[in-house]
Amino acid sequence: MAPVSDPSSFSSLSKCATKHLNLIYHVDFDRHVLKGKVALTVEVLEDKFASLTLDSKDLKIFKVSANGQVVQFALGTKHKFKGSPLEITLPFELSRGQHVIVEIEYETSPSATALQWLTPKQTAGKKHPYLFSQCQAIHCRTMVPCQDTPSVKHTYYAQVSVPRDLVALMSALHDGQEPDPSDSNRVIYRFRQPVPMPSYLIAIVVGALESREIGPRSRVWSEKEYVDEAAFEFSETETMLKTAESLAGPYVWGQYDLLVLPPSFPCGGMENPCLTFVTPTVLAGDRSLAGVIAHEISHSWTGNLVTNRTWEHSWLNEGHTVYIERMIARSMESEQLRQFEGIGGWKELQESENTGHYSQILFGPNNVLTNLVTNLHEVDTDEAFSFVPYEKGFALLYHLEELMGGPEVFMGFVKSYIQLFAYGSVTTEEWKNYLFTYFKDKVDILNKVDWNGWMHTPGMPPVKPQYDTTMADACTALCQRWVKAKEEDLASFTEADVKKLNSPQLIEFVALLLQEEPLPLSHVKKMQEVYQLNSVKNTEVRFRWLRICVRAHWEEAVPLALKMATEQGRMKFTRPLFREVYNFSKYSDEAVKTFKEHRAALHPVTAMMVAKDLKIDG
Ligand code: BES
Ligand code: ZN
Repeated sequence: MAPVSDPSSFSSLSKCATKHLNLIYHVDFDRHVLKGKVALTVEVLEDKFASLTLDSKDLKIFKVSANGQVVQFALGTKHKFKGSPLEITLPFELSRGQHVIVEIEYETSPSATALQWLTPKQTAGKKHPYLFSQCQAIHCRTMVPCQDTPSVKHTYYAQVSVPRDLVALMSALHDGQEPDPSDSNRVIYRFRQPVPMPSYLIAIVVGALESREIGPRSRVWSEKEYVDEAAFEFSETETMLKTAESLAGPYVWGQYDLLVLPPSFPCGGMENPCLTFVTPTVLAGDRSLAGVIAHEISHSWTGNLVTNRTWEHSWLNEGHTVYIERMIARSMESEQLRQFEGIGGWKELQESENTGHYSQILFGPNNVLTNLVTNLHEVDTDEAFSFVPYEKGFALLYHLEELMGGPEVFMGFVKSYIQLFAYGSVTTEEWKNYLFTYFKDKVDILNKVDWNGWMHTPGMPPVKPQYDTTMADACTALCQRWVKAKEEDLASFTEADVKKLNSPQLIEFVALLLQEEPLPLSHVKKMQEVYQLNSVKNTEVRFRWLRICVRAHWEEAVPLALKMATEQGRMKFTRPLFREVYNFSKYSDEAVKTFKEHRAALHPVTAMMVAKDLKIDG
């Protein structure tokens, strides 16, 4: 592996590599802290090794030892998003190939950005508190001092002590439980993750959780209030896993469980090994959940097994994952559905290029963060986030698929790439070199690709791939009818217009409307009258519909938009909803006020991003 450097990490990368992590947690719901002890087994990569640096952020470090000997440590100046380098000095020297066990006793901060502590009132059951983590991309360092970079992979063991009524789960296999010998009111849960993985995939949840079996290697977990509905909705999981295996090779993680989180979970889904985390907003979702699960399942290969070396190459994770996700749609549904999703993705990309999917401040067509391969030097990964790595990545892979001979041929490459780089990490250059090796007979075609345009140039890709528009046509046509309609044409719209659309098409229809100039208020009111979109439960439809209404300055939609923005906290919904209200100048103050009222109950990262979007202090 080429020498590594990661602009998002302070940790030593060329001189040592963590191989295993043994983690002991005591979860303290009163103080909102994890009291932790971690033992890192570190392989030495250079001679005369006598010091190392780890990532940490907002941690209180009590004691560090190396091979059992207490050693000196110092926390460097805190960097805004990278945290404080933890410098450890050894009283001895080691040589290349030796190992050292570094043990750290510490405590997390109540404001750790990886963690959200929920009060009983914020849960469905209202009786017990709840804790969950979200480490991607660089928040693991707020819960464990470590080499917090996707270029380092290690196994882990953990034991977690929690109040007796609660259950702890981690991104690992269950390894038993026992009463906590030091406190009869507590239980210890044990976990083991025998497959090497990067730090960002460490995950923990503690709550009043129950589970149901949904397949031979799958259970679904949630508070008991949602568990039966979840078991029903996720019943296709095993079929999806089998489909993914037939495309990408064996599933190496053993168990594939799903956890349905409380509504403040900031992501749609998170591919934590052995235990995918999902937002509860997919539950009312008639099928929009299938895409989320197919996506997170696909990360078991691209992301978790083959990992982007740094977050500058995150398109390798997300682009390939979207590619496999859509191959699953092709196998389980139809090629037409895959084509339809490709079109939707391209449109999403136009939105990212224009306004930024999550942040309308940062991203314009000339912003270098719309490059496929980004430069994250002094850039916060949370602020760099957009759908560009997903959809520009997918568009590139789909374009190459067209050039190299179709889906079967190109999936052959993707599978072979996964086999070659499994258990390791990759850069874009290594990926590209392998592409040229695999398609050695088609190098002349590959040489004609505008690589610089695709990878290192902002804005839309240099080539628009061809898609079959069979499923998309109905959405485009209906959208255009509304856009072109004069007042006197409004009577021609009827309920039957949308009855002809299936659920993904209805989502696409509202997504298309959102890309047009704001509709006149009369049109939007008429649309509500004939389509009754206010009562659609599907959150993908609802959040777009409410934005359309607010954009048309329909004042009655403002409280509905703010309600949706706060009663769930998925950033994909919450950020644009707040922004939309904020951009309606009459209600800017209302958006800010609502945000401030709810701030304490929001996830720390969501709160930070919305504050930025609404131009509120630091
Ligand atoms: N790994 C991502 C979530 C993520 C990305 C968390 C970057 C933190 C930083 C996950 O696989 C994902 O992409 N989730 C999507 C849903 C998916 C269906 C596109 C999301 O959260 O919206
Ligand atoms: Zn993803």
